Amino acid sequence: MAVKDTVETSVIEALPLSKIKEGIPKLFGIPSGVPGLDELFFTFEYDGDGVKKVPLGGLPSSAVIHITGVPDTGKSLMGEQFALSQASRGYNVLFVSVEIPTPFLAQSLKERSRALRLDWEEIEDRIFVLDITKYPELRDNIVKLDRVISETIETNNIKSTVVDSITGLYEGKEMIARTIVRKLYEVMKRYYQTSIFISQKRSSHEEESAEAAGGYAVPHILDCTIVLSKMVLSSKTLANLYNRPLGDTIHTLRIDGCRMCGHDRRTHLVEIDERGIVKVVKPIEDLARR
Ligand SMILES: Nc1ncnc2c1ncn2[C@@H]1O[C@H](COP(=O)(O)OP(=O)(O)OP(=O)(O)O)[C@@H](O)[C@H]1O
Ligand SMILES: [Mg+2]
Repeated sequence: MAVKDTVETSVIEALPLSKIKEGIPKLFGIPSGVPGLDELFFTFEYDGDGVKKVPLGGLPSSAVIHITGVPDTGKSLMGEQFALSQASRGYNVLFVSVEIPTPFLAQSLKERSRALRLDWEEIEDRIFVLDITKYPELRDNIVKLDRVISETIETNNIKSTVVDSITGLYEGKEMIARTIVRKLYEVMKRYYQTSIFISQKRSSHEEESAEAAGGYAVPHILDCTIVLSKMVLSSKTLANLYNRPLGDTIHTLRIDGCRMCGHDRRTHLVEIDERGIVKVVKPIEDLARR
């Protein structure tokens, strides 16, 4: 039986799934703009008794993807590549910049768009920047932040959102990190956003662990976690294995978990080229087979 509130007329009730026909999202791939990443997500097709694994060809639609890692592992670059790639495909994107003032973000996006050979004029009207460094009060007022993001998404028909970084939203108030991230997650879900939430890992956290990913149990809230890490080739054995000079740094990526679809579980080698473009190259297990 439905419970009627004595003061308000609102009714709270649990519904059978058969009554829920609207708003169920379809799962498909949203190109990430990071070469080699889209192939790491997959789904299944069922045909009679057969099951076929089919690539999703992108990030799972309407998912909130968490990208985490220690400094200089390519998190921001991946967030920028995603925003640029979506904008260049004609979709409007919201970029919530928590760390970098808009002019510097614009410079970085413009540089990257040139490197990716994208048409900046096609893009610049499609990326909307909410600059938290300009409105620091939004850091302390999650309800207001929710309202501003909601209005921006509704007014501008935004399809994808990047937040760089969520860590900057709970600095000094880590106790409520989950409350803040949960609220942002709810906004993304309300508007079916395919989003990237970037979080920073302290270097004291175990480099590739998921448990430490972003800290404060944040990954539990979000749909999918990608862990980026780096390693200095400090021995001849490592340098030989990776076929790089001794002392060089290698970058890796691992999809730690995804509740939306199947995914590759291996650790992959990542290349950040000299123009600042991130690419997923190959699983590191391939190196051992050489
Ligand atoms: N414009 C660029 N050109 C060439 N290389 C770049 C460029 N921008 C970044 N890089 C390289 O890519 C690395 C990763 O940069 P990125 O800004 O994505 O790091 P991040 O993971 O976001 O780090 P942080 O946690 O400090 O924000 C940098 O350390 C640098 O070596
Ligand atoms: Mg960054």
